[in-house]
Amino acid sequence: MSYVIAPSILSADFAHLADEVRSIEGAADWAHVDVMDNHFVPNLTFGLPVVKSLLAATSLPLDCHLMIEDPARWAPGYAEAGAYNVTFHAEASRDPAAVARDIRAAGSLAGLAIDRDTPLEPYLEILPAFDTLLIMTIKAGFGGQAFIPELLDKVRQARKHVAAGHLSIRIEVDGGINADTIGLAAEAGADAFVAGTAVYGEADRAAAVASLRDLALAAAQSR
Ligand code: DX5
Ligand code: ZN
Repeated sequence: MSYVIAPSILSADFAHLADEVRSIEGAADWAHVDVMDNHFVPNLTFGLPVVKSLLAATSLPLDCHLMIEDPARWAPGYAEAGAYNVTFHAEASRDPAAVARDIRAAGSLAGLAIDRDTPLEPYLEILPAFDTLLIMTIKAGFGGQAFIPELLDKVRQARKHVAAGHLSIRIEVDGGINADTIGLAAEAGADAFVAGTAVYGEADRAAAVASLRDLALAAAQSR
């Protein structure tokens, strides 16, 4: 099993985004890019033009997490631009499987995000349409929030379902992932980890990524 560490640039310095994303090259697997539209979530970050600039600035695969309304309209554009993975929220879509088809057709992996208050159960049957499943371990919208351990029940449920159905989908966790919590998420069955504060809050980002990876691997071995 391989583990993905995806630092979230939400905690980076937005005035120097290109340098900030380059500071994790060689250490991180993906750069996690939080797009927020001030409608689906109260917060506002950036959209496709900034993501296009980032794509030109880094060799890292971009893991775009769209916290936006109407993903059917906007998500395929991120795939066309060259994002590696495009994740949108289940709560924002009437037909998530159709949006996933459009994302895949445009050349990216497709991801489904499940927010804090959303049960996973109704979405289990459409998981084959997706390459990644992003389980929020906080309420989506802001970095720096405290990890909610109870939400790992959804990770365990997803891991069980994926194993039973032999699905090839990554189970990603996002929110409050740090040295104290990454092991719990790995034990629960996550294999991709988003970390904002725990990477960009450290002076040596590469070292922060490496130590998170070690902790995830160590915990998974005891699973
Ligand atoms: C919040 C974002 C997260 C955020 C995580 O809605 O989806 O990716 O950056 O930040 P930390 O790791 O600080 O909780
Ligand atoms: Zn995110």
